[in-house]
Amino acid sequence: MGSNNINKTEYLPLFRTRTGNRLFHRLYAAAIFVGILLIWIYRATHIPKPGEDGRWAWIGLLGAEIWFGFYWFLSQSHRWNLVYHETFPDTLSQRYEEELPKLDIFVCTADPTIEPPILVINTVLSVMAYDYPTHKLSVYLSDDGGSELTFYALLEASRFSKHWLPFCKKYKVEPRSPAVYFGSPSQHQVSDANYAQDFASVKKLYEEMEGRIELVTKIGRIPNKAEHKGFASWDSSSSRGNHDTILQILINGSDPEAKDIAGSTLPYLVYLAREKRPQHFHNFKAGAMNALIRVSSEISNAPIILNVDCDMYSNSSQSVRDALCFFMDEQKGHELAFVQFPQKFKNTTRNDLYGNELRVIAEVEFHGLDGHGGPMYIGTGCFHRREVLCGRKFSKERRIDDLKRQNNECKISNVHELEERLKNLASCTYEENSQWGKEVGLKYGVPVEDVITGLSIHCSGWRSAYYNPARPAFLGVAATSLDQILVQHKRWSEGDLQIYLSKYCPALYGLGKINIGLIMGYSTYCLWSPNSLAVVYYSIIPPLYLLKSISLFPQVSSVWFLPFAYVIIAVHVYSAFEFIYCGGTFVGWWNEQRIWLYKRTSSYLLAFVDTVLKLLGYSDMKFVISSKVADEDVARRFEEEVMEFGITSPMFTLISSLALLNLFCLIGILLKLGSISSLGSLYETMALQILVSGAFVAINLPLYIGLFVRKDPGRMPSSVTAKSVIFALLACTISTLLVQ
Ligand SMILES: *[C@@H]1O[C@H](CO)[C@@H](O)[C@H](O)[C@H]1NC(C)=O
Ligand SMILES: *[C@@H]1O[C@H](CO)[C@@H](O)[C@H](O)[C@H]1NC(C)=O
Repeated sequence: MGSNNINKTEYLPLFRTRTGNRLFHRLYAAAIFVGILLIWIYRATHIPKPGEDGRWAWIGLLGAEIWFGFYWFLSQSHRWNLVYHETFPDTLSQRYEEELPKLDIFVCTADPTIEPPILVINTVLSVMAYDYPTHKLSVYLSDDGGSELTFYALLEASRFSKHWLPFCKKYKVEPRSPAVYFGSPSQHQVSDANYAQDFASVKKLYEEMEGRIELVTKIGRIPNKAEHKGFASWDSSSSRGNHDTILQILINGSDPEAKDIAGSTLPYLVYLAREKRPQHFHNFKAGAMNALIRVSSEISNAPIILNVDCDMYSNSSQSVRDALCFFMDEQKGHELAFVQFPQKFKNTTRNDLYGNELRVIAEVEFHGLDGHGGPMYIGTGCFHRREVLCGRKFSKERRIDDLKRQNNECKISNVHELEERLKNLASCTYEENSQWGKEVGLKYGVPVEDVITGLSIHCSGWRSAYYNPARPAFLGVAATSLDQILVQHKRWSEGDLQIYLSKYCPALYGLGKINIGLIMGYSTYCLWSPNSLAVVYYSIIPPLYLLKSISLFPQVSSVWFLPFAYVIIAVHVYSAFEFIYCGGTFVGWWNEQRIWLYKRTSSYLLAFVDTVLKLLGYSDMKFVISSKVADEDVARRFEEEVMEFGITSPMFTLISSLALLNLFCLIGILLKLGSISSLGSLYETMALQILVSGAFVAINLPLYIGLFVRKDPGRMPSSVTAKSVIFALLACTISTLLVQ
């Protein structure tokens, strides 16, 4: 009894959780909600009589405003209960240094042209160099591109790691991606006499390796294939979509020979390109992850798995220990299935022209999800419990010891034999008639395998934790053109909507299994794409009716004007403050509003249409949308924060047509009135419509410049300009001709 008490008082947690200030947000939310109710009441009670102008437009606005209000309500779940964590890695180290669990790190790459091998191995080297006992680390690279160039780069990395790892440990190097470290040498302050010499020699090795890899990438083939037996796996008949499983253990950590130059053990390093055949569907990244889960279970079988994208290098060598503070905490650790870190980018500009950083999502919304049971799994920067990925349900009794018990050393006696034996685990047919992709592993069937997998983990009783350290743990490469960001969001929003329409719909499947706040949180993201309908409606109808001088909003002198003005102002002021509070700039906020609009009127709209077509059975009908890799020119414009259009895309036609429609309507009404001063006469009845279109025009300024002024290759292609002018003029003409 007595010793128990002492233990209790001495107990130091490995992580601490604090809640954010809720009062201010809750007051704000309540006040906005009242405003929204008043708007609904006004709309519902003032519908024009049959035969009057604007009756149908009015009813449509009622629908749009009901949707906005409903969606706003859902999104408040993100702010209702913010929680923040702090970890204590020193306590972890004192208590468990000898018992730390093994860790398997999965790096996924899919295409050697979009994801250059040198980028991939920098990520690999950064995670091999974690501040963690190396005999407990294993790094697996899944190459869905099945590229010998990537394999070559990894082979080079395995040799370079013998120098890089001891160098990192000796001088406590940060960050541990060699490209980044050597790319910014001026900042390093090390007061060791040998440092300068070691630095120079390791840097030279890195640059030589980089040179060889870039040469091979450039010529597209391997000059000396005799260098490693692994190259024999590529023959003339193998291609990206048609090859046998390629499994190569490049560093066997249990081999006494596998030591770095300081004599320490190296982590395991494994290359896997799962079998690909044209007649077998490969399930994208989820399929790759599942193959890795199986193959790694026969090699290192670590109880914790870290999954990173190949462009996300580790910017902090401490992240593993941070994550383990959650899993190994005696009181709360056993409830946690995964620990998600935010996705941050090394390559964003000051005002984040494309809203790459998803700043508010990372700094606010995910903390809010955490308060309801845990953040979603977002496919990168995430530590998982292996057993949970393998389908284990939550049970209260399980305790921390499990992590330690699974900590046996692995021994590989015959690498070649093992490789041959394990190949079958990554074959196309292995998963046939199995639960893989359904109950076991990452789930198949939607383009956002991460979200649906995380959701089903939450629904089986587990929690997750969101850890957002001040120094970013992982840094990725940001999108550098508008097209890239819109295509990415189309895929996300389409996948999310598919989840909503599947049996995993959070609102039905999650009911009774997860917190209602978490259901709302998931729903907010899953319903991204239907949002487009209301936004598109709002960006077409009010300006067209403005052109016809038909008022759809209350007059300025009416009391009903107040709730509109109040909600519009309060929501935007709050959002701007929130953005700046999260570390953004005012211009950054304005840029984000623009991207918000573009996503909703193009990506989300097309995602919605595609999903509906799929439901109706027209699954082959697809909007073909192209994406490009950025060249130097594009990179320069990105840094100058000049928006990159440059290609023809249906999404660009959509956003341009809407922007022009608003511009034409605003100009049209001015022409009709004869002068700007007579705009005053419209002010009383049309103030809000002028405001809506005016804001629309203001936010689209860079787009107009791209359409009509710029001459550089990043401007809007003239075919898009022509099409959008025609569409916008047509819409204006038809609507003025139509008599209601
Ligand atoms: C990455 O980590 C370093 C410390 O090693 C830090 O100075 C830097 O700000 C981080 N990078 C970014 C983009 O935040
Ligand atoms: C972004 O990355 C590219 C290469 O990927 C580099 O040339 C450029 O300087 C980076 N820009 C910023 C702002 O970090």
